[in-house]
Amino acid sequence: MPKRIAINTGGGDAPGLNAVIYAVVKSAHSRGWEVYGSRSGYRGLLFPEELVRLTPEMVADITPTGGTILGSTNKGNPFSMPVRSVTGEYQNHDVSDEIMKNFTRLGFYCHIAVGGDGSLEIAHRFATEKGMPVIGVPKTIDNDLQATQRTFGFDTAVSTATEALDKLHSTAKSHDRVMVVEVMGRDSGWIALNSGISGCADVILIPEIPFDMAKVCEKIEDNELHKKHYSIVVVAEGAKPQGMEEVLGKTGEVGRAEKILGGIGEWVANEIRRCLEKDTRSLVLGHLQRGGSPTTFDRLLALRFGAAAVRMAEEGIFDHMVALCTPAMKAVPLAEAIQSRKKVPRDSDKLMTAREIGICMGD
Ligand code: F6P
Repeated sequence: MPKRIAINTGGGDAPGLNAVIYAVVKSAHSRGWEVYGSRSGYRGLLFPEELVRLTPEMVADITPTGGTILGSTNKGNPFSMPVRSVTGEYQNHDVSDEIMKNFTRLGFYCHIAVGGDGSLEIAHRFATEKGMPVIGVPKTIDNDLQATQRTFGFDTAVSTATEALDKLHSTAKSHDRVMVVEVMGRDSGWIALNSGISGCADVILIPEIPFDMAKVCEKIEDNELHKKHYSIVVVAEGAKPQGMEEVLGKTGEVGRAEKILGGIGEWVANEIRRCLEKDTRSLVLGHLQRGGSPTTFDRLLALRFGAAAVRMAEEGIFDHMVALCTPAMKAVPLAEAIQSRKKVPRDSDKLMTAREIGICMGD
């Protein structure tokens, strides 16, 4: 009987997911194993008719494509799944036992869960509470998982944001305007910092450094004094003014455990207009950062993660996540991987670089 692996790509998508699937399918196939994809996170394991047998032929051309061929959801926590009752109300149900029953009945050897902190936490619960042999693969454009040097998707998101900044320079300059660009990243400033430095921003505001609007305006005025009549301000969605809370976007999505951030870019733009009477526009890059073909870096990383996950399966290393520890891949216990988020450290070389090249960090 060939070994059977299940794979799911729940949580927010990230460029490179299909490359992970490709590597898992090919590496498993070369060992004579079978791979089944679970559609929309754990849905396929809950409703086995939504499991799909993945063959090398089926995944032959998916590596350069964005999104995930298995679909995704960030409202699919099997330990608290929103189910609509006959009265139309939503109630949370724990369907983890049903999933575990299906997993055993269908003869799966292990489960590869590709996800960010939320999905990895669910994977860890399956391992510890239900005895499922699980291997995690770290995915998120936010790059906020402490246990790995990189997550895949981040490089693509930063490239997209940098390209957007490059384009905004010319229009900002033509109109002597301030352009405020809000980027993703949740509570970490990695996307804002990396794209802001590379895209020659004047100001970068990140969640790790609560900002002072007076400093932001000072920088824009200083640009004017030096005959630079336009400025580019990059704001991470989780950045907050000193003494204030982060700005939350729309709320009330059924089954959504995580907060939705959004709106700080427009808030900053309004403050600049109010204080400096300077022509200011804001834009939110949003899900553009999650879309499109993965960069070569992300593809390679995702392929390496997928192959390493299958090696871990072969060695029987479960309840662990594959992590990049250059130049190697290592196995990190899931408990450790989900413990803390990776933030921009105050002594980061990138922060020093930003300050030394004249970028205002809002403090
Ligand atoms: O975690 C990835 C991410 O893109 C964050 O940067 C962002 O805050 C969030 O997901 C957006 O989630 P959604 O796709 O549910 O709007």
